[in-house]
Amino acid sequence: MATRGKWGSRMGFVLAAAGSAVGLGNIWKFPYITGVYGGGAFVLVYLGFILVVGLPIMISELIVGHRSEKNPIGAFQNLDGKKSIWQAAGWLGAASGFIILSFYSVVAGQAMAYIFKSFAGFSGSPDQIVAKFAELKTNPLLSIMWHTIFMGLVISIVIGGVKNGIEKWSKILMPALVVLLLGLTFYGVFFSDGGKTALAFMFKPDFSKLSSEAILSALGHAFFTLSLGMGAMITYGSYLGKKINLPRAALTVVFMDTIIALLAGIAIFALVFEYNMEPAAGPGLIFETLPVLFAQTGPFISVPFFLLLTFAALTSGISLLEVVVSYFIDEKGWSRLKSTLIMGGTIFFIGLLPALDKIQVMFKGKRQSFFDIFDFVSTNYMLPTGGLIIALFVGWKMKKNIIESENFNSKDWYYNAWRFILRFITPIAVIIIILHGLELI
Ligand code: TRP
Repeated sequence: MATRGKWGSRMGFVLAAAGSAVGLGNIWKFPYITGVYGGGAFVLVYLGFILVVGLPIMISELIVGHRSEKNPIGAFQNLDGKKSIWQAAGWLGAASGFIILSFYSVVAGQAMAYIFKSFAGFSGSPDQIVAKFAELKTNPLLSIMWHTIFMGLVISIVIGGVKNGIEKWSKILMPALVVLLLGLTFYGVFFSDGGKTALAFMFKPDFSKLSSEAILSALGHAFFTLSLGMGAMITYGSYLGKKINLPRAALTVVFMDTIIALLAGIAIFALVFEYNMEPAAGPGLIFETLPVLFAQTGPFISVPFFLLLTFAALTSGISLLEVVVSYFIDEKGWSRLKSTLIMGGTIFFIGLLPALDKIQVMFKGKRQSFFDIFDFVSTNYMLPTGGLIIALFVGWKMKKNIIESENFNSKDWYYNAWRFILRFITPIAVIIIILHGLELI
């Protein structure tokens, strides 16, 4: 049987986990959905879910992985002592991984295309610059080409393994991303005319704008942005080996992820308001707005930005593939090379559907692309359902003494707070919101 990988250091693990969490979700998705759902009130609900749903489940996934040292499907069997219904979380997670990576790769491909557009420079009126994005998105050959290149990169890094692939890359790419983002935010707040409006838009809640779909999306996004609900953190926790303070590691990852999303939001909305653009533009937001600024600043800023966006997407994309790959390595005895090629290849083929904007089907009463459908279903239903099962497992099924051996002490206030929230608040919140989203209540 192939041997399992291991992280080289605790710091390497934390950066890889943060690398998984910080990705397109923070820089591409968070700003655009905040725009679509009206700003402040949405941000507040999202932050609430990060606290009562995200953080408790992050700790739970890491415990399940660290304790079992297994892939998400094997982990539940290992901890439960038998095959059981809990494994459903693992299977659902693997399915989510396929679907998410297949559309994730399409956006990452767009980011890569924009690296090259940046070299050439952006020019023309804001409207002309905005129109460039539609040209890319609706061009089938280009979309498939970039999707292929991105999947190729993800596959090569995952073949390199845990320490020499994932960890090595995360250690370089994560810090670089933070520095660049700080620069952009600094520009947005202090030098652009849109800074003040952006801060008010994001942090002054107007609850009359809060629809029930916004609440469902805030929940879904809390899972998506933290890489939760499909076992990515179970998998990363399983490569730890060493003893480590898991609650603290979880807190670090959640904190970094949230700060980066907020910074990206501020930086992007400052520009949106400076140039009187539409905050509710949708998924194209960063590809349409930022280039208007970049047209003036030149390639020195735009090339690094899209390069780092691509890197952030890479460190997340590899975690999506790694979940499925780890299952075949652990349970089927496949080599890393074989698992990665076969699973990565399958995801590549599934990804042809979301890559082709022209293929549309009826969904929820309107014609939609596979890109939109894959995103909606996986983020808003599959991840929360997977997360719910994980919360119930760790909250109600796992033995207390096992949990306490993972750096928790039953006398700590934060242990008791975590356990209470995980057992009662998290499941109830997730159930109500999913049922409401399905229009059952
Ligand atoms: N969290 C990543 C982002 O924000 C995406 C991601 C990576 C992910 N792994 C995941 C989402 C696992 C859900 C589950 O871009």
